[in-house]
Amino acid sequence: MLILGIETSCDETGAAVIEGEQNSNKVKLLSNVIASSLPLHSRSGGIIPENAAREQIKFIIPVINEAIQQCNNLPARLAAKRAGKAGLTIGDIDAIAATFGPGLIGSLLIGVETAKTLSYVWNKPLIPVNHLIGHIYANFIYSELNPKRYTLNANIEFPAIALIVSGGHTDLVLMKRHGSLNWLGGTRDDAAGEALDKIGRLLKLPYPGGPYIEQHAKKGDPNKYKFPRPMIGSKDFNFSFSGLKAAVFREVQTMKQPARRSLGEGGLDNETINDICASVQNAIIDVLVKKTLKAAVKYKAKSILLGGGVAANQSLRNEFELKIENLKLKIPLFVPEKRLCTDNAAMIGAAAFFNNQQTDWKKVDANPSLYF
Ligand code: KG4
Ligand code: ZN
Repeated sequence: MLILGIETSCDETGAAVIEGEQNSNKVKLLSNVIASSLPLHSRSGGIIPENAAREQIKFIIPVINEAIQQCNNLPARLAAKRAGKAGLTIGDIDAIAATFGPGLIGSLLIGVETAKTLSYVWNKPLIPVNHLIGHIYANFIYSELNPKRYTLNANIEFPAIALIVSGGHTDLVLMKRHGSLNWLGGTRDDAAGEALDKIGRLLKLPYPGGPYIEQHAKKGDPNKYKFPRPMIGSKDFNFSFSGLKAAVFREVQTMKQPARRSLGEGGLDNETINDICASVQNAIIDVLVKKTLKAAVKYKAKSILLGGGVAANQSLRNEFELKIENLKLKIPLFVPEKRLCTDNAAMIGAAAFFNNQQTDWKKVDANPSLYF
């Protein structure tokens, strides 16, 4: 089954084609195209929804075209072409999947309305997908160009605990099987990525701050500043990162005394920025790992899945591996390829394949505040 996935919940415009096989617990990535308006937002220090949607209107059709064309560049398909077989065209697609929420309304509308139009015009089934569930399904994708992940790792077994950790969300979910998800807890205020991005802005790093904080953290001392680990010991599975963000703000304010302003625009020298980044990252990772492993033990998880932009962070991945080993938990950890952690349409196609809730296009509407 070939599915064209479409993702436009935030600033990215994504289209991808995945191939799923019956009775298989993974899908193959055939193409994955993303057009980002990030440089635009980098200048404004955050996403301006109206600008994101305007860019997406321009990108959406070329991105979909490119996703279909790219399928023909895969080694297997090139060989078929050489043997005289026709390339993949829209006629070969079995269904269209699109993110219908949560996200920015203007951005969601572009993907949803495009998908509805294509469903009607091409007479293809439409599968609406929850963006958050999409992030979990990035773990079920393998690509011909990088098949190693699935030959080396065990298969994903249920029950699984999934941590979705992105710019908009920090959620822990118990997945009993495909289509059965129980939300265990989430952030009460800022998402982990949001806290990183706000701290990045404070430190005058480009937007989004997460990947830049990771780079600076590599050169810093993670124990230099004792930032709080909010709710790390709470009995529930909720998170809170705004207190940590406030603590960093206070720390930086006290440092930015007039005498230090000569040190640069941000008033901080590089070593200090590196140490703050390493200490902040360390605090966030501590909380994420502790709570996720607690849930994994409580619900006797057979797999742990990470998803969302922050899951691209190598220190987070390493810390999970280390703690799982130290605690002798013997639960396999699954992490998507880094490019599939941040927003993409392949994960939307994968979620659609395993849940396959085909819906009449007339009944599909964008829902910016959709949750689990
Ligand atoms: O999943 P995503 O692309 O969009 C949302 O659904 O929110 O996640 C974006 C978030 C941003 O907050 C960004 O700073 C963070 O993911 N991020 C990272 C890294 N790469 C992206 N955070 C830490 N380390 C990274 N390498
Ligand atoms: Zn996302």
